[in-house]
Amino acid sequence: MPTLATTIDGLKLPNPFIIGSGPPGTNLNVIARAFKEGWGAVIAKTVSLDASKVVNVTPRYGKLHSSDGKEVIGWENIELISDRPFKIWEEEFKKCKDMFPDRILIASIMEEYRKDAWIEIVERCQACGVDAFELNFSCPHGLPERKMGAAMGENPEILEEVCGWVKSAAKIPFWAKMTPNVTHIEDPSRASLKGGAAGISAINTIRSVIGVNLDTLRPEPNVEGYTTPGGYSSRAVKPIALRMVMEVAQLIRSEFPDRSLSAIGGVENGKDAAEFILLGADTVQVCTGVMKFGYEMVKPMCGELLAFMEKHKFETLADFKGKSLDYFTTHADLVKRQTERKATQKAAAAAKVVKADGEWSGDEFVKQSDALSRG
Ligand SMILES: Cc1cc2nc3c(=O)[nH]c(=O)nc-3n(C[C@H](O)[C@H](O)[C@H](O)COP(=O)(O)O)c2cc1C
Repeated sequence: MPTLATTIDGLKLPNPFIIGSGPPGTNLNVIARAFKEGWGAVIAKTVSLDASKVVNVTPRYGKLHSSDGKEVIGWENIELISDRPFKIWEEEFKKCKDMFPDRILIASIMEEYRKDAWIEIVERCQACGVDAFELNFSCPHGLPERKMGAAMGENPEILEEVCGWVKSAAKIPFWAKMTPNVTHIEDPSRASLKGGAAGISAINTIRSVIGVNLDTLRPEPNVEGYTTPGGYSSRAVKPIALRMVMEVAQLIRSEFPDRSLSAIGGVENGKDAAEFILLGADTVQVCTGVMKFGYEMVKPMCGELLAFMEKHKFETLADFKGKSLDYFTTHADLVKRQTERKATQKAAAAAKVVKADGEWSGDEFVKQSDALSRG
C-alpha cells in the first residue's frame, strides 16, 4: 500500500496537500476546519505588522466561465493581504498550535523593504509556535507603493537581501513564494535560495484583466466605475504553473539539490497533483480550488493520488518526484531526434522488404527488385 506521508524541510505532513495562502486560511475557524478535513498543512492568509494600512474593496473577484456557463475556469482577484490586526493573528496562531500540535501551520508573511520590520514579524510569528514561513514576494496588485509583494519579488537582489534578514532571525524553515510575472522565474528563485530559503513556492497569481462589461463599457471587477489589474488563478493557469514549476525544479536539481519546491496553480484533483510532483514538486498547494469545491475536496484528491501511485507501483512520493523532468529538451533537439527516428524506421522498413531469392513468390518480384535497386 503506497503512502502519501512525507517529510519536507523537517516538517512532517500526512499528505502533500497544503492550503495555499488566501481566503481558505483567513482565520482560526477556517484553518481548524482544514485540519479536521485532513489537509497536510495550512498556509495562513498573508499577514503584515500594520493591518491598518491594508484596505480592501468590493467587488474584488471576477470569474471566467466555460461557454456553457457551468464551470469557473479562471478567477481574478484584487484582494490584498489580511486586513485583520496582527495581534489577533498572534493569538490565533498560538491557539491553532494548542489545538493541533502535530499539524503543520505555516505563516505567510509580507513586509516593507526594512530589515527591522522583517525581523520583527519573523520573531513574533515564531514565538507563537508556527512551524514554518512562506515569504510572500508575489502579490501582483496590492501595495507596490510600499514596495511589497511582487514589487519586491521582481528584484532578485532585494530578494537575496530580504531572505538573508529572515535567515538571520528564523529558527524554522522558510519558503519564498514567487511571482509568475517575470520573464525568468529562475532568477528570483536562485536569489532567494542563495539568501537562505529552504524552498520555493510557485506560482502566485498572474497579472490579468478578467474582462470588459459590454453594457457599461467598464473593465471588471468594477469598483466605483474603475478597476486595477488583478491576479489570475484557477484551472486556466495550470499549464503556466506547470511550466514555471518545471523551470524552478530544473534550477533546484542542478544548483540546490537539498532545497524543496511547493507547487501552486490550478490544482483541483489528485491527477493535477501527480503532474506537479512528476515535474519536481514536493508538495502541492490549493487556493481557488477550495473556494470552488470546499475543504472536503482533500479526501478525493488523496484517493486519486494514491490510485495513480498504485497503478505505477510507486510506494512513496519520492519514487516519482521529478520523474518527468528528464524529458524536456530544446526544440532543435526534438528535430534531431525525430529525423534520426524516421531514418532508422526507413532503413528498418527497407531491410524488411529484402528477402532471400528463394523466398520470392508471385508479384513480390516487383517489390524485391525495387528494394534491391535502392541498395
Ligand atoms: C482571492 C485570493 C486571495 C489570495 N490571497 C493571497 C495571499 O494573501 N497571499 C498569497 O501568498 N497568495 C494569495 N493568493 C494566491 C494563491 O495562494 C495562489 O498562489 C494562486 O491563487 C494560484 O493557485 P490556485 O489556482 O490554486 O488558486 C490568493 C489567491 C486568491 C484567489
